[in-house]
Amino acid sequence: MKRPLILIGLPGSGKTVVGRRVSRELDAPFLDVDAAIEESVGRSIRDIFEQDGEPAFREMERYAVSTALDGEPCVIAAGGGWAAEGDNLGDAESQAVLIHLETTPREAAARVVGQSDRPLMNGHDAEPRMEELWAARRSFYERAHHAVPTDGRAVERVAADVIALARSSAGW
Ligand code: S3P
Repeated sequence: MKRPLILIGLPGSGKTVVGRRVSRELDAPFLDVDAAIEESVGRSIRDIFEQDGEPAFREMERYAVSTALDGEPCVIAAGGGWAAEGDNLGDAESQAVLIHLETTPREAAARVVGQSDRPLMNGHDAEPRMEELWAARRSFYERAHHAVPTDGRAVERVAADVIALARSSAGW
């Protein structure tokens, strides 16, 4: 039986681009959690953070992932904070295969620098902020069933590793 795949990792680790490619290759539905929330609420993540607050956003992302896990097997790109919230990991780890796109804070920071759509990065220098997020979340990300390194690697190579894992250990 196919099990859903959930990609986790720092902002800038490539969850969305890799997930989209993997889903295409596996002919599986793709859920980009941030995009799905923006579409259902009709506002950007940044506006949701500003107007409703982070706790409201966290509840939306929890709900989006848990609803997707009840549907047909799919590829899910979680937001960078999802894995570190409440019991999200504990709830998902028996139903899905969790794959950490392992990226050093330095490389993740270099990839997101100049982007204004990540509220947790706003007003911070990218690298120290990413180091902070890594320190706070590392223990959660490392609970993933598998890790795929992304530093210095092309999206296609990272996606190929994820696809190989999907075939070898998630029934795809
Ligand atoms: C967040 C990461 C973002 C988005 C939101 C919060 C985080 O997703 O969910 O801005 O807490 O790290 P990406 O990881 O896709 O940037």
